[in-house]
Amino acid sequence: MKSFEEVFLGRRSVRQYADTPVALEMKRSILEAALRAPTAGNMMLYSIIEVDDPTVKDRLAVTCDNQPFIAQAPWVLVFLADYQRTMDCFTFAGAGASSGAAPAERPREADLLLACCDALIAAQTAVIAAEAHGLGSCYIGDIMENWETHRDLLRLPRWTFPVTMLCLGWPTDGQARRPQPSRFPHRVVVHRNTYRNVTQPDIEEMYGSPGDGRSTAEELRALYERKFVSGFAVEMRRSVATMLENWS
Ligand SMILES: Cc1cc2nc3c(=O)[nH]c(=O)nc-3n(C[C@H](O)[C@H](O)[C@H](O)COP(=O)(O)O)c2cc1C
Repeated sequence: MKSFEEVFLGRRSVRQYADTPVALEMKRSILEAALRAPTAGNMMLYSIIEVDDPTVKDRLAVTCDNQPFIAQAPWVLVFLADYQRTMDCFTFAGAGASSGAAPAERPREADLLLACCDALIAAQTAVIAAEAHGLGSCYIGDIMENWETHRDLLRLPRWTFPVTMLCLGWPTDGQARRPQPSRFPHRVVVHRNTYRNVTQPDIEEMYGSPGDGRSTAEELRALYERKFVSGFAVEMRRSVATMLENWS
């Protein structure tokens, strides 16, 4: 097992994996840790889909913004915000229904957000547990895109939403040695009592000196194009808006 420093301060996302498979015992141990994560009201408003069908992985590698390493990952986990199981249990019990029908009330946006919290906390617990075992991982946020396709591919019922996906596997030597990306200084992230907007010096420190001769403003304009208005961002907004229409 790795030390605290190795697990939390030495971690980096891993996108290339050695051929070695992940042992069943290790998978069990990581999933056990994930299922022990805090969960709102102890309701466990999430589900995890293990994807081991190569054709499904190949499809996800395309539908999640064309990221071929998804298909190469030895272990792929989709984390669903899941109110379906709870609603099924309520229906079984006749909760909130006068004549054995479905409950009169249904999950709203707040319930979805709470379920997303549960799913993400379980996912991050899996990341940390995997890291402790020496296993690398990478989140795939693009699972939120192409909602209709993912719903059909994974046969997702109405009150579920795939909020994130994890690719896991043994890191290649190159990935294990890859430099860690920098982070913002503490003072712009950790506020005291009330919120403080960033100042120009903060912004210079956050985005200045990328080492390619670009000014801070140029760097930020490029980031806007790359992450905020690019194809995947537009598709994610469309996909989530469509899912929300179906949810509400
Ligand atoms: C919610 C979320 C979604 C992410 N989606 C992707 C993704 O689709 N593809 C990818 O290669 N990395 C993805 N990442 C990984 C980030 O790019 C990575 O964490 C970030 O660049 C910092 O690098 P580090 O994890 O090595 O510190 C995602 C991370 C998070 C937390």
